[in-house]
Amino acid sequence: MEKSEISSVKKQFDADVKKLAGDSLSIEAISLLRNSYTGKDSQLAKLFKELGTLDSKERGPAGKELNVLKQHIEESCQLLEEQYIQHKAMVDDEKQDIDLTAPFATTKESLERLQSQGASNPVSEEVEKMLSIFRTMGFHIFEARELDTEYFIFDSLNFPPNHPARENWDAFKTAEGLVPTPHTSNMQVRVMRYFKKPPVRAVIYGRCFRNEAVDVVHGHTFHQIEGLYVDKGVSVADMIGTIKAYLEAFFEQEIVWRIQPSFFPFVEPGIEFMVRCIFCKGVGCGSCKHSGWLEVAGAGMIHPNVLREAGIDPDEYTGFAWGLGLDRTILQKNGIKDIRSLFASDIRFLRHDV
Ligand code: PHE
Repeated sequence: MEKSEISSVKKQFDADVKKLAGDSLSIEAISLLRNSYTGKDSQLAKLFKELGTLDSKERGPAGKELNVLKQHIEESCQLLEEQYIQHKAMVDDEKQDIDLTAPFATTKESLERLQSQGASNPVSEEVEKMLSIFRTMGFHIFEARELDTEYFIFDSLNFPPNHPARENWDAFKTAEGLVPTPHTSNMQVRVMRYFKKPPVRAVIYGRCFRNEAVDVVHGHTFHQIEGLYVDKGVSVADMIGTIKAYLEAFFEQEIVWRIQPSFFPFVEPGIEFMVRCIFCKGVGCGSCKHSGWLEVAGAGMIHPNVLREAGIDPDEYTGFAWGLGLDRTILQKNGIKDIRSLFASDIRFLRHDV
């Protein structure tokens, strides 16, 4: 393999990126570009294959250069996507035509309304508490994106293309091919890349959307707190200890926990973390659907393919991730019966009158 081959791929790629910028930018175009440079039949894949034929002296440096190029391609595609999303949001805003200079109504009634004191939504209050617990445990806090590409939501998380597991997430899709995020795991690879290298200690809070029928316990919009911890020698015991410590701080009591196996393509092994119902102590009640247990989080050891996608060597580092669902816990902790009240904007609920 010649050095010039690697640099000519880079040159060609940079030229293609330039061509894409501007009006011809679209999510499909970016994903085509990414695929043609990193996909199975790409020049890059061919060069990676050739690594095996090099003698051991050359293999190290050539491998390094190829990885640098791969990362360059990934980062450029990500940047393009961000540019596209921002550009699109700006164009949409312009189209909306809101007159920000329009004067306030100054009738007695509207002034009274302005003076009435508001109160924060229970979701915001609980989220603040949850994040502050993780902050004291040494995690960095990030906010998730609410609109993202399939790459971050599925592909980067080891979901094979067109794999039926994607359907479990009941994701919506916009006309432009973007996806309102169905889970905060879309931030995993992004945040790991942001840290450049372990240790990674991050907690990501965000709103999620799924195409679900709405009833008292299901909403199409809900909240998750994602956690990530990657370093040398991180184990399942660390994962369980961290989740347990958090839950005991949040519920302000000792908990009884159990785990059961579960499948998520981005972790191996994957688990479901359960807490013995803190209301009925396991006897069975409305909060735990008479099972005695509350499901609080999906979690697991981050899959080597996901670490690799984020530029982290899985032979050197391990890590765990979790996704905590907030809404049901918030209902349970506050004795709220209907999940819909969290979003209905009923002023009596928001004032904490009901
Ligand atoms: N993203 C998963 C879900 O929405 C939860 C999860 C997060 C599982 C991290 C494992 C690790 O169901």
